[in-house]
Amino acid sequence: MTFREKSSSASARNAINGNGSSKSSSPVSKKPVWEYAPSPEAKDHIEIRSQYDLFIGGKWQKAKKYFATVNPATEEKLSEVASASKDDVNRAVLSAERAYNKVWSKTPAKERAKYIFRIARIMQEKAREFAVIETMDGGKPIKESKSVDVPLALAHFFYYAGWADKLKYAFPNQVFAPVGVVGQIIPWNFPLLMAAWKIAPALACGNTVVIKSAETTPLTLYKLAEVIQEAGLPDGVVNIISGAGDTGAAIVNHPKVKKIAFTGSTDVGKLIMRSIAGTDKKVTLELGGKAANIIFEDAPIDQAIEGIINGIYFNQGHVCCAGSRLFVQESIKNTVIKKLKHRLKSLRVGNPLDKNTDVGAINSKMQLKKITELVNSGIEEGCSIYQPECSLPERGYYFKPTFFTNVAQSNRIAQEEIFGPVLSVLTFRTPKEAIEKANNTQYGLSAGIWTDKGSKIFKMVGQLKAGVVWSNTYNRFNPASPFGGYKESGFGREGGLQGLKEYLNF
Ligand code: NAI
Ligand code: MG
Repeated sequence: MTFREKSSSASARNAINGNGSSKSSSPVSKKPVWEYAPSPEAKDHIEIRSQYDLFIGGKWQKAKKYFATVNPATEEKLSEVASASKDDVNRAVLSAERAYNKVWSKTPAKERAKYIFRIARIMQEKAREFAVIETMDGGKPIKESKSVDVPLALAHFFYYAGWADKLKYAFPNQVFAPVGVVGQIIPWNFPLLMAAWKIAPALACGNTVVIKSAETTPLTLYKLAEVIQEAGLPDGVVNIISGAGDTGAAIVNHPKVKKIAFTGSTDVGKLIMRSIAGTDKKVTLELGGKAANIIFEDAPIDQAIEGIINGIYFNQGHVCCAGSRLFVQESIKNTVIKKLKHRLKSLRVGNPLDKNTDVGAINSKMQLKKITELVNSGIEEGCSIYQPECSLPERGYYFKPTFFTNVAQSNRIAQEEIFGPVLSVLTFRTPKEAIEKANNTQYGLSAGIWTDKGSKIFKMVGQLKAGVVWSNTYNRFNPASPFGGYKESGFGREGGLQGLKEYLNF
């Protein structure tokens, strides 16, 4: 890692306090300010086409309309992608049905496994390209796409490749069959990873797929389409399309789609439930969250601080299981807040393609507006805001890492999913109070507990209404471990054996 003295023009800009340049020569401005030298990831090895058609039946097919996807870090257009109409969705579903009837349902399980394995291997070879495109299209720091999104995505393909010919051991003494054509709709926060969570188990169980990317982040799915082609997967087994909410609705409502797997907002989850009521479609919903990260006085504090940071500022807080409500035991409140402020000052916010960046760009203008609106509501409701001093790039969508103290449980910032780098700090006195407060939400996706006492962890875990509970760590994922929620965070599990079950009829 290299450091350099801040450039003279930058230090002059910082020293000018709005009324001219004479003060810029004050002794204060001469003090050297050290910062990291830029360390941008190279982009010359990646290929983004100027236009992407729909990937249906193993071929690229034109659509009537196209829309732009931009790089939220620079606001530059990266490419144009097809907006799939109802007719296009119908074509994709029919192609998946044909592939299911003619080829995939007749392909032996051990052959299915080989295809899935091959997809994983090719993705692995192109890991760097995937990481750079994921970062450019969505704004997440390159160090995260390189170390989390891409390796975890391909780990899911490897994992489920292993299960494809062992399903009878996964579900012994049970009779089961694939569902048929499955429709999958994913969000913009982890595009490639969510696609892997959905496509890999679906294929392992013998289904065929129509999957739709989210509006702002379609590019890595189309890269995956290229990988699927290269892997020689029979035409129509996986169909990849792009479009907005109405494209998603057309998938949900298509009579030949036998299962819906959705990750996204609770509002759309509810809409989906309404539209499939009375049909025999299977459904899994992975929706929003407002997770409690609970820090006891006996916790290893410095480790917990890292867990808090990782819990809420990872991926700019665009994480359904983000630890967005921090519960600190009152006796250590001042220490935790002091350490948190100190740690926030060292977070580097800016160009997502820079290898030293910790917090990248907010995914879209719309999301930035939503975050700003909710943060303003916190200020209006009397909560105290803290943001470190840091300069944000002039172009692109950015938001400073933020936390609030003096938060009441009834405040909007303690109840609503902000989906941004914003933490609400609350306190508790006893484990009982921590549980009551942690469960006081419409959501129930995840939680974190930090304590030195194993017995306390076990006691808490049983009473927290959350699908995943991490102890003395946060945001850890493994393909063998199921993930999913309670209450308005949805139902059904992805990952592990439980994730296979959702793609089979028993
Ligand atoms: P969204 O739920 O509208 O979008 C997710 C996906 O659903 C996208 O692919 C979208 O095209 C599709 N979709 C939209 N309307 C649909 C419909 N009627 N039928 C079928 N599919 C439909 O989420 P959005 O608008 O991108 O984000 C809004 C808020 O939702 C965020 O601020 C965040 O709080 C939350 N969110 C939560 C996510 C999670 O992982 N839990 C992921 C994305 C957003
Ligand atoms: Mg984009």
